[in-house]
Amino acid sequence: MLSANPIFYNIPQFHEKVNFYLKIEGLNIAHSIKLKTAIYLLNDLEKNFGITPEKNTIIESSSGNLGVALSILCKERGYRFICVTDPNISSQNENLIRCYGATVLKVEEKDENGGYLKTRIRYIHHQLSLHKNMAWTNQYANENNILAHYETTAKEILDEIKNIDYLFVGAGTTGTLMGCLRYFKKHSPKTKVIAVDAEGSVTFGGAPKKRYIPGIGTSEKPEISQYETVENIMTIDEPATIRCAHHMLSTYGLLLGGSSCSVIEAVKRYPFTPYQQANVVAICPDLGEKYLNTIYNPSWVSKHFNLALEN
Ligand SMILES: Cc1ncc(COP(=O)(O)O)c(C=O)c1O
Repeated sequence: MLSANPIFYNIPQFHEKVNFYLKIEGLNIAHSIKLKTAIYLLNDLEKNFGITPEKNTIIESSSGNLGVALSILCKERGYRFICVTDPNISSQNENLIRCYGATVLKVEEKDENGGYLKTRIRYIHHQLSLHKNMAWTNQYANENNILAHYETTAKEILDEIKNIDYLFVGAGTTGTLMGCLRYFKKHSPKTKVIAVDAEGSVTFGGAPKKRYIPGIGTSEKPEISQYETVENIMTIDEPATIRCAHHMLSTYGLLLGGSSCSVIEAVKRYPFTPYQQANVVAICPDLGEKYLNTIYNPSWVSKHFNLALEN
C-alpha cells in the first residue's frame, strides 16, 4: 500500500512471515542513493587533498548514478567532471550527466572478466598519468564511501524502524553494504545484514559472467569490500530481477530500479523462520524511470533474455 512517508514504504502481504519495508532512495535531486556517496567523496578531496575548481578536474568511474550525482555537485561547485562509464549505462543517466555539463567517456572494450570495470579503471589511471591536475574520487577504495552510508543511510533506517531483524543491501562498490554492516554491528547487533549480489559478479568470489543491469555486481573486487566481514550473501540472476521488477509494478504499482528488484527477489527467496513476524528492510537505491528502455521494455527484455513477462 502506498504510504504518505515517501522514504519508507510498507509492502503488505509480501511474505506471510515478514513485515516488509522498502527504504526508498530515489527521491533526491540526483534520483539515487549515490548523492550521499558523491557528497562525502567530493568533500573528502576538498578537505584532505586541497582540490579547487580553479586547479582540478574530477574524474570517476560510474555505472551511471554516481556520475549523475557528481555531475550535479561539480556543476554546483564549479569543477570540470569526466564520467568514465560503459555501454550498460541507461540513456537517461547518460543524458543527465551531459545536461549537467560533464563529459561522458564510454569504454567499449570488455575486461578479462567479461565486464567493463577494469577497462574503466585502466582508462582513469592513464588519464591521471597524463594530467597532473586531475583528481579521482575513487569510490572503490575511499573510506568515505563507507562513512557516507554509516552516517546517513544506516542511521536513517534504524532511527525510523527501531526493531529490525533483517536488512537486505545490494552490493556494487559495497559502500552501502560496508556502512550498514559497521553501523548495525555497533547499534543493532541482532540485525542480520544480507548482501545481495548479481550472478556473474566477482565481488564475493563468484564466476564472472556477462551482465546487463547496472548498479550491483562488479568485474573487479572493490578494495573497500574487505573492510567488514560479510557473513550472509545471496546471489540473484538477472532474469529473476526482471521478473521481480514486473511483479512489483503490476502488483503494487511500484516502478523500481534494477538493483532494488534484485534485493526484493532475495527477500522473497530468504528462508525466514516460521515462528517470527520478522521486521525486514530492503534498501532501494533508485526508482525505475531510468530503466524504461531496458528492464521495462519488452523488446529489450526479449532481445537479451528469453522471458515471458507478467502484464
Ligand atoms: C542502482 C544502484 N544500486 C546499487 C548500487 C550499489 O551501491 P554501492 O556502490 O554502495 O554498493 C549502486 C551504485 O552505484 C546503484 O547505482
